[in-house]
Amino acid sequence: MVYNLYFHPLSAYPGPFWARSSRLWYRYTLIRGTLPFSVYRMHLEYGDIVCIAPDELAYNDPRAWKDIYGHRSGKGEIPKDPNFYLNTAAGHISIIAAPSWRHGTLRRLFSHGFSEKALRDQEPTLQYYADLFIRRLRDQSVTDERIDIVKWYNFFTFDVIGDLAFGEYFHCLETGQNHPWIEFIFQIIVQGTFARATDYFPFVKTILLLFIPKSLRDGLAAHIALMKSKALHRLNMKTDRSDFMTGMAAPNSGISEKEFIASSDTILLGGSKTTATLLSGVTYYLLQNPRTLKILVEEIRSKFTSEDQIDFVGVDTLDYMLACLNEAFRLYPPVPGALPRRTWLGTLWPESMCHPILLLPFTSGPCTALPNTFLALSILFRSVGLKTRSSKTTSEQLLCLSATDRATA
Ligand code: HEM
Repeated sequence: MVYNLYFHPLSAYPGPFWARSSRLWYRYTLIRGTLPFSVYRMHLEYGDIVCIAPDELAYNDPRAWKDIYGHRSGKGEIPKDPNFYLNTAAGHISIIAAPSWRHGTLRRLFSHGFSEKALRDQEPTLQYYADLFIRRLRDQSVTDERIDIVKWYNFFTFDVIGDLAFGEYFHCLETGQNHPWIEFIFQIIVQGTFARATDYFPFVKTILLLFIPKSLRDGLAAHIALMKSKALHRLNMKTDRSDFMTGMAAPNSGISEKEFIASSDTILLGGSKTTATLLSGVTYYLLQNPRTLKILVEEIRSKFTSEDQIDFVGVDTLDYMLACLNEAFRLYPPVPGALPRRTWLGTLWPESMCHPILLLPFTSGPCTALPNTFLALSILFRSVGLKTRSSKTTSEQLLCLSATDRATA
């Protein structure tokens, strides 16, 4: 502790005593699920760079985003922190944690499933589930029962991913019931967090892992078994259908069975819960902000006069809706914690970070969630003189605005 507080190369950075002195505080808040909120409060108290563990910094500065995650010509990317990325069911063979020499190939294969043509081919599938989703909500709305919209968004995204990644229909929307797999996913996210927390104590990791509740370990085992059978079912399908796995399932793709299974895992976990969470967040904020909701409804009804006119091309022109979604990404990020990168002494330290001798991993986020208000976008459009319809610009303007708010606060 004395070393960490006074002699560690990061000891000059501000942060609470408990965070700077040992990893225990970090581990405790990680397991409790409060880490992103604590880091947020630490930024408010200590500024844009805070020490969240003796060897880890969190940055809340737009310049850090590029420096930490951006591509740097001739220098390569700053490596992903293995402690974070390898504690997933899929491990290092999945696209998310793959080493850089393999990542490019996996990404290229994935990109087939997300090209403009592929998305056009997939549109009827999405339309089918979107119609079913609305129909089921209508069915529910005539009963006296409350609708748990978070559940229904999860049914929707899980059915879509099940179809477009595994070629299977999970019947969640139809039955209004969770597929058992959804329950396992909740469990493996918690299990992964426990496993991550133990990584900081490599000498006693094996013993600590025994303390992970049996139900979570069973959930992980069940998830792995299901994942394997569903992914192999898709891999062995004789089909020319266009879905997320088209490129990877091609006979000449050159990827191994294990990589295929791990990548299916990434799609299932990365595509279903995240999207459902974002939709839940935007719904919550819209209901809290009736003025914003009203403008959004007007935009949609002025663009489409009937449901069957709604398609990919049409929704892409809904500037206000895209801005609301971007704003929800900022305020209600489905991936709320930082995605840590790891630097080593004397190497790869980003130029603008001005401390070339600093040591171990550093991280960024959830910086963009300041200030904590859902902005009334119509006022915003006027106040920042937004001219373009690009949602990217909208989001950039929002970030600038929140930075200005902070500076003048
Ligand atoms: C609101 C919805 C989503 C959010 C918030 C989200 C978030 C993210 C984040 C933060 C990463 C970067 C992980 C990292 O490199 O550390 C990522 C990567 C990825 N996501 Fe998503 N995601 C969403 C939806 C989806 C969907 C719908 C799919 C597929 C159907 C998907 C597939 C992927 C894949 C394949 C990667 C890996 C890309 C690569 O490493 O090159 N995501 N996502």
